[in-house]
Amino acid sequence: MDRIVITGGAPLTGVLPISGAKNAALPLMIASLLTGDTLELANVPRLADVQLLLRILGNHGVDHTVVGRRPGESAETGQTLRLCASTIIDTTAPYELVSRMRASFWVIAPLVARFGEARVSLPGGCAIGTRPVDLLILALERLGAQIEIEAGDVVARTPKGLKGAEIVFPKVTVSGTHVAMMAAVLANGTTVIENAAREPEIVDVADCLNKMGAKVSGAGTPTIVIEGVPRLGGARHEVLPDRIETGTYAMAVAMAGGDVLLENARAPLLQSALDTLVQAGVTIDPTNAGIRVARNGAGLDPVDVTTEPFPGFPTDLQAQLMALMTRAKGTSRIRETIFENRFMHVQELARLGARIRLDGDLATVEGVERLRGAPVMATDLRASVSLVIAGLAAEGETTINRVYHLDRGFEALEAKLTRCGAQVERVRG
Ligand code: UD1
Repeated sequence: MDRIVITGGAPLTGVLPISGAKNAALPLMIASLLTGDTLELANVPRLADVQLLLRILGNHGVDHTVVGRRPGESAETGQTLRLCASTIIDTTAPYELVSRMRASFWVIAPLVARFGEARVSLPGGCAIGTRPVDLLILALERLGAQIEIEAGDVVARTPKGLKGAEIVFPKVTVSGTHVAMMAAVLANGTTVIENAAREPEIVDVADCLNKMGAKVSGAGTPTIVIEGVPRLGGARHEVLPDRIETGTYAMAVAMAGGDVLLENARAPLLQSALDTLVQAGVTIDPTNAGIRVARNGAGLDPVDVTTEPFPGFPTDLQAQLMALMTRAKGTSRIRETIFENRFMHVQELARLGARIRLDGDLATVEGVERLRGAPVMATDLRASVSLVIAGLAAEGETTINRVYHLDRGFEALEAKLTRCGAQVERVRG
């Protein structure tokens, strides 16, 4: 298995392009199942998760082509995919594929909405605690689907088609909101989703659905209203920039010091994380081209942060912030309220010399003078990249094992960091 070796100490300078958002690209690709016409998606990041989802969609009968590169495009500027689900040969998503990427479970919504039947394996366990699908099932049931669990699969059937309904989520869920929205666009009548997730990726998917002919309003607020339509058509849509990648590299610059333009990044997508960085003493300067992030030699101030649904501080940046705070001048408190057991990076950061105490959902991070490089193990996507951030400031060499997690979610990570002056190398295993 590949490893990444980082020699810490180099400041970051220059321009670092931000890719399309993984968490929007995946549901957008899944939305292609809603129509027999072609959905063209631009700015899709080149990630292992995207490749895996193409395989899963291919298994259902979705044809895809990757549009050839245009002048000015590079390996870091994303790709354009054309997806066409004109003939679906199989409405079953098997365990071997779904268990490798939880978001693939979401295919259940467009399949049942368009074909009246879907069989999707229950996704099973995941490295960041239990991530149930009960609220996704609740949403489909509210819309009139009959749900049964058969041999580890969720089987959804709607002999008479889906019917618009009121769906009130007892807690904010991104996956639940995507599933409810994708099913309701083809339902008969009006659906109102209450306590909907407000994440920018929900808004991006709603925009794309509307281009396909859907009638979705209110995305980005807690109440989404959807007037069902009988069919959707093709469209072209560009995936919005990745706010988690943006926040991650902003923290990398804050950690290593330097001055970097995060090209294409948009500040309103991650205002709360940027506010936290400003509080820590980082210079954040939104420009027309992106967001400039800078830190001179001065130390970082500690922060108190609680993860929350959007627009709060995102759980997907919690591990990276913790890595950053290991070097702050004082004690930070970081509370994780979205996922239980999302602290696996703590033990690995400790191997580099970090001082972190865990007490339930609260991590108390006491800043230390220096980190020292060591071999560490990546355990999930965001945890892995927190180790990269720590490695950028650790003395000597940090070797990150099991980097396939990084490849799932960060496009051209070594290339992007290297071109800003970091010493990062991939060792093929
Ligand atoms: C998505 C993101 C993930 C991010 C998370 C929270 C994608 C592909 N993944 O994950 O990167 O960390 O949002 O911002 O977009 N829950 C239930 N029952 C359900 C569904 C969820 O109890 O049926 C709980 C979860 O266990 C969790 C909380 O609701 O505690 C939020 O989960 P959710 O927002 O659905 O996260 P995902 O969509 O899985």
